[in-house]
Amino acid sequence: MSQNSHLDAAWQYHSGTKHSPLSVRTSPHFLDWENKPLLFKIYPTLEVLRLPRDFRETSCPALSAIAAAGRQTQVEAIPNLETLAQVLFFSAGVVRSKKHEQGETFFRAAACTGALYEIELYVVCTDLPGEALPGANSAGLAAGVYHFGVAEFGLRQLRAGDFRQTLVDATASNPSLAHAPVIIICTGTYWRNAWKYRSRTYRHFGWDNGTILANLLAMSEALHLPAKVVTGFVDSQINALLGLDTKREVAFSLASIGHQPSTPPNPPQIAPLNLPIVPYSKEEVDYPAMRKMHEASSLDSAGEVATVRGKTPAHDLPPPKGTTTSLQLDNDSIPQDSMPQDSIEKVISRRGSTRQFSRQSISLSQLSLMLDRATRGIPADFLEPLGSHLNDLYLIVNNVDGLAAGAYVYHWESKTLELLKPGDFRDKAGFLGLDQQLPADAAVEVFFLADLKKILERYGNRGYRAAQLEAGILGGKLYLAAYAQRLGASGLTFYDDDVVNFFSPHARGKSAIFLVALGRSALRK
Ligand SMILES: Cc1cc2nc3c(=O)[nH]c(=O)nc-3n(C[C@H](O)[C@H](O)[C@H](O)COP(=O)(O)O)c2cc1C
Repeated sequence: MSQNSHLDAAWQYHSGTKHSPLSVRTSPHFLDWENKPLLFKIYPTLEVLRLPRDFRETSCPALSAIAAAGRQTQVEAIPNLETLAQVLFFSAGVVRSKKHEQGETFFRAAACTGALYEIELYVVCTDLPGEALPGANSAGLAAGVYHFGVAEFGLRQLRAGDFRQTLVDATASNPSLAHAPVIIICTGTYWRNAWKYRSRTYRHFGWDNGTILANLLAMSEALHLPAKVVTGFVDSQINALLGLDTKREVAFSLASIGHQPSTPPNPPQIAPLNLPIVPYSKEEVDYPAMRKMHEASSLDSAGEVATVRGKTPAHDLPPPKGTTTSLQLDNDSIPQDSMPQDSIEKVISRRGSTRQFSRQSISLSQLSLMLDRATRGIPADFLEPLGSHLNDLYLIVNNVDGLAAGAYVYHWESKTLELLKPGDFRDKAGFLGLDQQLPADAAVEVFFLADLKKILERYGNRGYRAAQLEAGILGGKLYLAAYAQRLGASGLTFYDDDVVNFFSPHARGKSAIFLVALGRSALRK
């Protein structure tokens, strides 16, 4: 019997993993570098099929790609192998590396807490057209279940055959999956991130999965492929398909890519896999709070899955009481010929979290573009109608030309910023962002706050996953919108209750979910 409606579990996990100045002081954590987990999942007994890298440039401006809220198409759109490779590379591939005292870090297309990259991707597909891969028997990609090997930029086949119907069944016949030639499964591996962040890692699953999905949605749009995020599924069925050891790794979200009129055939039997993987560390430390949260938000049956789809809770901010400023999005503020045109691939390739902000201003039209493009709607099964959202955006404005410094809340529908309190809050922003310098120096901080009570009442504990994931997707879009304009961004962690108190009384009763700082890099000329 599922525990999804036992909401104490989500509240306990959320409260138990809050940061406060006291918790940080009284529960210090020292990193055991000798035991740092490997950053890649590797199946040593499986051949790797190396993916093609000669990508076709999409020329789709990043600002358009991230703004799109998912194509609604009934027209056939089947990615070929090269296109799939392109989506995988720009979602989670290695884009640069850096040597340092402890070794070398291979940075990926999407930002990730601590550069620990605990989210793995798997591909479940029908036969896909394309060139023959080196080592493959036939052209294109044969129907199967594959693990995306990031280190080699390749695929390892876990199962041969068309298993998409297994996913359709597990999602209570989610329509976007039923017609998708490709489905990506995203999993989270606890230890890979808990090595540094301990039990808070379960929140990071949502954030780090979200930044990957922001890239995946934008790339799919640029390649004219419909894509949709799906979080409602019978957990045990997906985990069994991938043969996961669920004490260590669990499925977190799915994404459908493409459209075909036909539906999948009956799936083959799912035999246990028992495939060895290269150990991540000499020893792993278990943090049971996360497994408990995951189990309590797991769904047991298709019937239960159907109950958590759509019907996003109504979401009305009180009408503005303070001064409001409309986003500057008209032609006068941003003439068409000055609209940044860099393609989504270019922007993803140059993205990298800003390590030092300069304290210089950004303009209101730059901030407007970031907020507008990031909030045009996410195609996801828990967000219906399209354009609904779970998180509210609260801002600290430090230095934006044309906007008074102060604390704001963003009204999505009217695209206006309501001033909650004016003032110079740089020091406060630094404090709220876990006493880090980045938020004190950035031009703006965007805090994601959610009414968890309402969300959990609607979706059960599963809503906790959705709220974190949505914030990660929005944060990922903000990153891309910043880099499209040659600005900088960094995701940040925070002191939970202090954030809510700072934005109260407006934010009273909400919970702090995520934080992104935006501004100009000090290191960039
Ligand atoms: C959800 C999230 C939270 C983050 N939190 C912090 C943070 O608190 N402090 C910090 O310096 N960087 C933070 N970062 C930035 C990561 O350290 C950075 O993404 C990672 O090192 C990978 O580097 P890249 O983003 O340049 O590719 C965060 C990133 C994400 C996505």
